[in-house]
Amino acid sequence: MSNARVIAIDGPSGSGKGTIASLVADNLGYKLLDSGALYRVLGVAVLKYNIDINKPSAVAELAGKLNIEFGRGGPGTLWLDGESVTKEIRTAIASDMASTLGAMPAAREALLEAQLGFRQPPGLVADGRDMGTVVFPDARPKIYLTASPEERAERRYKQLIGKGIDAILPDLLRDLKERDQRDSERTISPLKPAKDAVIIDTTNLDIDQVVSQVLELVAGS
Ligand code: DC
Repeated sequence: MSNARVIAIDGPSGSGKGTIASLVADNLGYKLLDSGALYRVLGVAVLKYNIDINKPSAVAELAGKLNIEFGRGGPGTLWLDGESVTKEIRTAIASDMASTLGAMPAAREALLEAQLGFRQPPGLVADGRDMGTVVFPDARPKIYLTASPEERAERRYKQLIGKGIDAILPDLLRDLKERDQRDSERTISPLKPAKDAVIIDTTNLDIDQVVSQVLELVAGS
């Protein structure tokens, strides 16, 4: 397996990690792993193929044979078994399924290898919940982005509306808090900063300011 450099960017939903990870990867010419998208695609697949989510072995079997393609229809697009699921994976139900699957050891294990496969030269920017704690413990630097729940819900709202997906702000805030709680309290790979992570609170920062801070940390580590 490649030992190319990995930069880990973890944090809760709406902390800006997806946007920041993508800009940092572009700036450095590195590959990008949006690990949340893998959990989301698995969630969409569970629904599509009517898999019983209470049967870990069935979920793991499904995860092992999914044909997921990133970027086939342009940057940021995602395909499952030949069909575009770019919009579908961002819906509330897909978010909820992804969070539920994230608490299942069998699902985490089944997706681990796919995530490790993204580590390729010249380097990787990996975003998620456990990039620095579990999947790439030798990542450097490890960054943990956060922001207030209200700010994060507002960002998600604008993102969805911008993509033409209907959204209701109070519902988003409620769902986000529920997901935070589930992601933080699960026993396996909970959402928490790695011991050696640098925490950046992005509540009052704009995107450029966060990218600059991250690039400074990259240059210094
Ligand atoms: O980053 P995101 O909001 O797209 O992630 C969706 C869900 O997937 C999140 O609520 C929990 C799960 N997830 C995870 O358990 N581990 C990851 N590394 C990434 C996402």
